[in-house]
Amino acid sequence: MSPTLHVLRDAPLRARNTFGVEARAAWLGVVDDARALPEALARLPGDQAPLVLGGGSNILFVDDPGMPVLALAGTGIHVLSEDTERVHLRVDAGANWHGFVMDSLARGLCGLENLALIPGTVGAAPIQNIGAYGVEVREFVHAVEAFEPANGEFHRLSPAQCAFAYRDSVFKRERDRYIVTAVEFVLPRRAAPRIGYAGIGEELAAMGVATPDARDVATAVIAIRQRKLPDPAVIGNAGSFFKNPIVPAAQANALKAAHDALPMFPGNDADSRKLSAAWLIDACGWKGHRDPLGSGDAGIAASHALVLVNHGKATGRELFDLARRVADSVHERFGVALEPEPRIIGADWPAAAT
Ligand code: EPU
Repeated sequence: MSPTLHVLRDAPLRARNTFGVEARAAWLGVVDDARALPEALARLPGDQAPLVLGGGSNILFVDDPGMPVLALAGTGIHVLSEDTERVHLRVDAGANWHGFVMDSLARGLCGLENLALIPGTVGAAPIQNIGAYGVEVREFVHAVEAFEPANGEFHRLSPAQCAFAYRDSVFKRERDRYIVTAVEFVLPRRAAPRIGYAGIGEELAAMGVATPDARDVATAVIAIRQRKLPDPAVIGNAGSFFKNPIVPAAQANALKAAHDALPMFPGNDADSRKLSAAWLIDACGWKGHRDPLGSGDAGIAASHALVLVNHGKATGRELFDLARRVADSVHERFGVALEPEPRIIGADWPAAAT
């Protein structure tokens, strides 16, 4: 069967973003197979780079996208090679991330258990180097396959070429350069459970598991996430709305001296530290806030201060404006600039003067 492209005009995007906000795409191309990308790009209206939409779990539409939208629908999982120690797999960008994690565990493979229940697609995972409970996806990525519209070439990027960092990669830094088409993983058969992150050990103990395997860790992670993070299928959200800020060590130490409870983690180097955005937002009193303005449906989750939520009819603009007020209050009180984690369409997040 030859690869196909389906074009939809004036397509609703509400079901294609986990915030569940209304937005429409003048042109939406759904590509079943990445080999159809050259054709899809040749047919794009205008000369703007397309917005590539994955699971829509890391995007906020403040307005309709002014550019054409592409969705990759391929979901295949293929074993490329295997031996007694590990398995090398190739997964299409459109595959559901959590579905793939559970599939890998069912095959007896380990490594991705701490990343269970993260919303989104496999193709989106390397873009922001998804991470949770002490593990980042970069550790298991063998290569990222990507199409480069500017020259029509398909590439296979090594982890070094992906330039992974905390919630960052070359795909995020050079936004329109590549379209991720598939990700290759190498996963070990033997479990090396990572249970040091706060909460996991306690959860396993409560489950009565003393020597956890990878599936036990996934069960614990799923239980913690279900308790702490609202399910996007029930309440619109995009997970953490803000990145944990990385600030100079001197600033972090001064804040820590004034606020002993502020969680502080290693930064990118010896001179920087990562702070907990959730703690800073919580300290400003936003947790559980429901905005009386507009629809009354924009808010901050009651279970986690880092999660911006749409209780039903909030618009992207209302969510954006609330997020701005949250960031402004944190900046005013602590002198720390928060940056959003999701991509924002239709508005600019102004760089704060620190
Ligand atoms: N905290 C508060 N108030 C809250 C929530 C948390 O003060 O409402 C404080 C607590 O002291 C807690 C600390 O913040 O110990 C850290 O909280 P948590 O363990 O939930 O982690 P996080 O730093 O807020 C990050 C990721 C999450 C990931 C968790 C668990 C980012 C931006 N977020 O959150 O990822 O699930 O760690 O590993 O790095 C996502 O990216 O969408 C996401 C959900």
